[in-house]
Amino acid sequence: MFKQIQNRLLISYLIVLASILGTFALAVRLVYAHSLKQQLTDELTTLGQGAATSAEFNHGQLEVGKDIPVKDLIARGQALQWFDLQEQLIAQQGKAISTLPFSSLEALQVQLSKPRIQSVTLPIVSGDDHRKLGYVRASQSLEELDENLRKLDWGLGSGIVMALILSGIGGVWLTRQAMYPIEESFQRLKQFTADASHELRSPLMAIKSNVSVALKYSDGMRPTDVEKFEAIASATHQMTDLTEDLLLLARTDQAANPNFQPVNLTAILEQLVERYQPQAHAKQIILHAHLAQSSWVLGDVAQLTRLFTNLIINALHYTLAEGRVEIKLSRTGQTLLVDVNDTGIGIASENLARVFDRFWRADQSRAHWEGGSGLGLAIARSIAQSHGATISVSSQVGAGSCFTVQLTAMTGMVKFVKPPSANTGDDQAHLT
Ligand SMILES: Nc1ncnc2c1ncn2[C@@H]1O[C@H](COP(=O)(O)OP(=O)(O)OP(=O)(O)O)[C@@H](O)[C@H]1O
Ligand SMILES: [Mg+2]
Repeated sequence: MFKQIQNRLLISYLIVLASILGTFALAVRLVYAHSLKQQLTDELTTLGQGAATSAEFNHGQLEVGKDIPVKDLIARGQALQWFDLQEQLIAQQGKAISTLPFSSLEALQVQLSKPRIQSVTLPIVSGDDHRKLGYVRASQSLEELDENLRKLDWGLGSGIVMALILSGIGGVWLTRQAMYPIEESFQRLKQFTADASHELRSPLMAIKSNVSVALKYSDGMRPTDVEKFEAIASATHQMTDLTEDLLLLARTDQAANPNFQPVNLTAILEQLVERYQPQAHAKQIILHAHLAQSSWVLGDVAQLTRLFTNLIINALHYTLAEGRVEIKLSRTGQTLLVDVNDTGIGIASENLARVFDRFWRADQSRAHWEGGSGLGLAIARSIAQSHGATISVSSQVGAGSCFTVQLTAMTGMVKFVKPPSANTGDDQAHLT
């Protein structure tokens, strides 16, 4: 349970960190790309202005100046194009010649097809009378800018990954440190429950034996006193059950690696169905079983018996007369499914998530001890978890409930180990 919380904490922490770093990287990328483009536009404008002043107007013709440093243009991946007022190309120099159709209305053009080129268009204006003589288009290849952005992307990407890996390692340590005191106090609380339940056993046993002695020799007693002793005996019995349940819960919770043995699940269920047949009969309930043969699991016989006992008792208890309770054990590959199905009162959908909580009972208004303490399903889930199994429920009010336990079947051949209560009848079992 604590491992799960720790993992969830760590994942949430990494998701938050990744979102913060991602947003930061995106902002850096946008600002950097914008400033590079702005810088390029400024450079092209300066280049275009120089080219515009070098153009002359002779005999009604636009002539391009000869003093343009072509070598520099080629080295920088730049190009210049001159156009007359009819937008006809007059001359061009340089390497990165834009193939986009010229338009005097577009001051800034970007050629998206490879090679990517950015162009800035400026008017050529006469120095004397400020007449417009033509246009100059200064272009620059975006190869270098794209390469710079690619390097930035790699840098930011690998920086984020490195930061996440380091934060993940640090996060594992941090979450462990944070969970440690919670885990410790939880363990202490469990130990206290186990100790308290254990310590209550002896005084309860003493009360129980004294009351039974008193009831055994009740001949001279007044009838009202006998009733009082019977009430004490009943309350003591319930208290003993409750302390036993609490002790069992504390123990199954603590048992991280119990010494499990091969257990024949079919035999356990057959035995339970037989044991509860008279109770079902008395309530006019049909108790039926469909059990896959020789289904073995690794576990504790007493605990698994308790798990299914709790489910069967509940099914019988919460099913009205003439109802039906069906136990089904099926196998698919290595998965064993045990369904305890009843046609009982059912559980409201809003309560389904709470049925496995300790001391939770659907009808809270009933006297606390009537029917049980609300620990049966909590014990069932605790046992299932300690066996690496899962327990789930589906139910419909008025139609019935189905509790399903999913376990993993054993494989290979096991030597028979005589369980305390499940009589398998074999000396050796061959498993598939
Ligand atoms: N088969 C069922 N049909 C309908 N309601 C059920 C069924 N099984 C359990 N419930 C509901 O879930 C509650 C919790 O069950 P749980 O077995 O934990 O406690 P309990 O039966 O009340 O007492 P006990 O500790 O003696 O088992 C029950 O009080 C009942 O309201
Ligand atoms: Mg119960």
